[in-house]
Parts: sequence; C-alpha cells; structure tokens
Amino acid sequence: MSRKKTAILISGRGSNMGALISAAMSPDYPAEIALVLSNRPDAKGLERAAELGIATAVVDHKDHAGDREAFEKSVDAVLKDHKIDLVALAGFMRILTPYLVNAWAGRMINIHPALLPSFKGLATHERALQEGVKLHGATVHYVSAEMDDGPIIMQGAVPVLDNDTPDTLAARVLDVEHQIYPKALSMVASGKAKVSGARVTGSGNTNETETLIWP
Ligand code: GRF
Repeated sequence: MSRKKTAILISGRGSNMGALISAAMSPDYPAEIALVLSNRPDAKGLERAAELGIATAVVDHKDHAGDREAFEKSVDAVLKDHKIDLVALAGFMRILTPYLVNAWAGRMINIHPALLPSFKGLATHERALQEGVKLHGATVHYVSAEMDDGPIIMQGAVPVLDNDTPDTLAARVLDVEHQIYPKALSMVASGKAKVSGARVTGSGNTNETETLIWP
C-alpha cells in the first residue's frame, strides 16, 4: 500500500494534529504524516511534532504582511519540497485565498468545531449556547473558496447540557474532533471518499440504528 504523504497545517496547540499522528502510527493507516507546518513559530504543536520525529516547517505570515498570496506561495513551495499529496488543516488560523485553495482542490481538508453549515467562523461554542441548540459537534470537510464551506466528509455530534459553558462544550466537541478527523483523513487517503456535488459518500456506514435524539 502506498501511503499518502500528508502535511498538517497548524497555528496552535495541535491536539488534532496529535490525533492524526497517532492514527498514522499504525502501518495500515493510508496516510503518513510527512510534515507539520505552522504560520506561527511559537505554535505548541511544532514542539510536539518534532518530539515525535516528524519534519516541521514554519512559514511566518508576518514575513508576508499584507500579501496573503505571497504567504501562500511560500507555503505551497514547502509542501512541494516535501512531495506532499494531502493537506489537513488543524487549527490553522489563516483565511485562505483562491490561490492555495485551487492549488489543493480535492486534496485539502479542514476540521471545524461545529455542525456545518451552522456556526461557520469563530466562537462556535459560545454561539451554539446563545442559539440554544441541543446538539452541537464538529465537521471535517474539503476546503473550498468560501470559509468553512466545501463538501462534508464526516461529522460527530454531542449533546448540549443545561450546565454547559463554552469551555465544557468545547472540551466535549474536541473529544469528538479527535475521533472523526483520523477517520475522515483515512477515507480521503484511501480513496474511499467520493465527491458528488456537495455530497461525499464512501464511509461504508450502513448503520441506521444510531439515531441520536437529544434530550
Ligand atoms: C479545533 O477546535 C479545530 O476544530 C479548530 O481549531 C481548534 C484547533 O485545536 N479548527 P487543536 O490545535 O487541534 O488543539
């Protein structure tokens, strides 16, 4: 089996990065984590990746202030240097231009801490509580030109509890993120994910009994 060389792009602590690296330690996982790249030199996840023996790179957006495309060209050059096949964004806090999105169309995925298409953007847990939703969760999707858009590969839902704060809800969602991101990357890297319009099929899940009704 040829494993897809995958880069993880981060800006911070990198807990999703850690989940992907752990999954990829299994020899039959269809992706190999070949690079962790950050736009912030101080991203905690970089240290963790290096400790785990994974190649790391920094492309500091501040070196390209005001020129997003120049920043993305530098990122793209590093990805090409490492012969990367797939890109997984994991808390990468830069808005992408069509330049990078088009260069990696169909080969770049992202995790978002909400059940898209609800709650795009930031502060998703605060907004979920404000809106009073009873189910919240996380989404892995292909990256398209619009932020937090693109065909949905996998979602995980959690209940919203009466005594939740944004922090308790975030922790419950993060746990689900760590479960769905490795599964979604596996679907993409193995070629099982099939995109047709806005719809991605190929999870192999035929279990209709797992209907989640809350409360
Ligand atoms: C996660 O909640 C992810 O969904 C969002 O940014 C956060 C990154 O957390 N895009 P971590 O760096 O993976 O711990």
